[in-house]
Amino acid sequence: MPNLEIMKDVFFVGYVDWEVRNFHGYSTHRGTSYNAYIAKGEKTVLIDTVKVNYFKEYLENIKNVCDPKDIDYLIVNHVEPDHSGSFPQILKYLPNAEIIASTIGVKNLELHFHKDVDAEIFKKIRAVKEGDILDIGNGKKITFVPVPMVHWPDSMVSFMTDEKGPNVLFSNDAFGQHLATSKIWDEDNDLSTIMEEAEKYYANILLYLSNIIAKTLTKVGALPIDVICPSHGICWRKNIPDIVEKYKKWSSGEIDENSVLIIYDTMWGSTEKIAHALYYEIKNRGIPVRRFKLSSSDYSDVITEAMRAKAILVGSPTLNKTIYPSVAEYLTYQRGLKPMNKIGFAFGSYGWSGGAVKEIIKELEGAGIKVLDESIEIQFVPRSEDLNLKNIIDKLIENMD
Ligand code: FEO
Repeated sequence: MPNLEIMKDVFFVGYVDWEVRNFHGYSTHRGTSYNAYIAKGEKTVLIDTVKVNYFKEYLENIKNVCDPKDIDYLIVNHVEPDHSGSFPQILKYLPNAEIIASTIGVKNLELHFHKDVDAEIFKKIRAVKEGDILDIGNGKKITFVPVPMVHWPDSMVSFMTDEKGPNVLFSNDAFGQHLATSKIWDEDNDLSTIMEEAEKYYANILLYLSNIIAKTLTKVGALPIDVICPSHGICWRKNIPDIVEKYKKWSSGEIDENSVLIIYDTMWGSTEKIAHALYYEIKNRGIPVRRFKLSSSDYSDVITEAMRAKAILVGSPTLNKTIYPSVAEYLTYQRGLKPMNKIGFAFGSYGWSGGAVKEIIKELEGAGIKVLDESIEIQFVPRSEDLNLKNIIDKLIENMD
């Protein structure tokens, strides 16, 4: 029988998904996990479910901890299907459990599972509000804190205080990472890897919600937390100040250094020539610069780079009077996520009508990015004088400071 107890009276009953490489469009190079937990006091509490594909493994894990009939509460912290997907299935095994969710959680559970779950069940769910407390006995109490839009309107965190042990924040998506690992604790994993995945998770899932995250951090940060158990990736206990500090930084748009990101695509090599000339002009000045060709890059990696950079330089050839499809696709993704405090610059090439550069500027502005007045748009093939970019880079650097 596997040992699922990760700390005294807290058990991991989720599923580590080593295989997944695409999580609704987000590339998960290192897999992910759907974390669910059991906490035991005098009462037994099941916290969250897993993606429905892994219900069998989830149920087996639960059975290795207790008889499901002995579970007194099922807490649904978040209705997105990676955490509530097995809700209809697990209910059949929990005849004695009261279900608990946020007020919006109750509504969203019904909106998701009206076909699979008897309507009477939804009427019996306990809707909790901020500060409501569940006493599970043996010195343990769970306080509920709805955190709307971290990541959906129904999202909630559950904070378990323990008179005899560490206080645990079941934080759901917050502080998570798409990372499959056999080691549950932060200190047993490589810190740079988990921080890299936490940053990528923030950039792809939470970035556009940064104003809300910052307010939530103030509220949740005031709790005397000893352990954070998120719904994806590792649990935090040694590096909590580090990840909280990172969340403060990411949610405020603060960056480590004034670096430049160049992203582009090319049809016959002209836009690529400009991208390379920009790259070398910036590199030669000692400014950190990274370059990605969008048709061979992954959007979820590139948006993470965009969050880290101060300046985002976007290049595209004109195709059918507009932006090249791979560039348009990335810019649409970026417009939704809205990286903060950035300087934008547009460049490209065209054959006869032009149009891509104008569209890039529109997309960057739509993402809330301040765009330089200057841009580069070359007809057909750039001449060597077109690639003398000293003045443009001077202007860019001026605006980065
Ligand atoms: Fe991991 Fe918003 O679900």
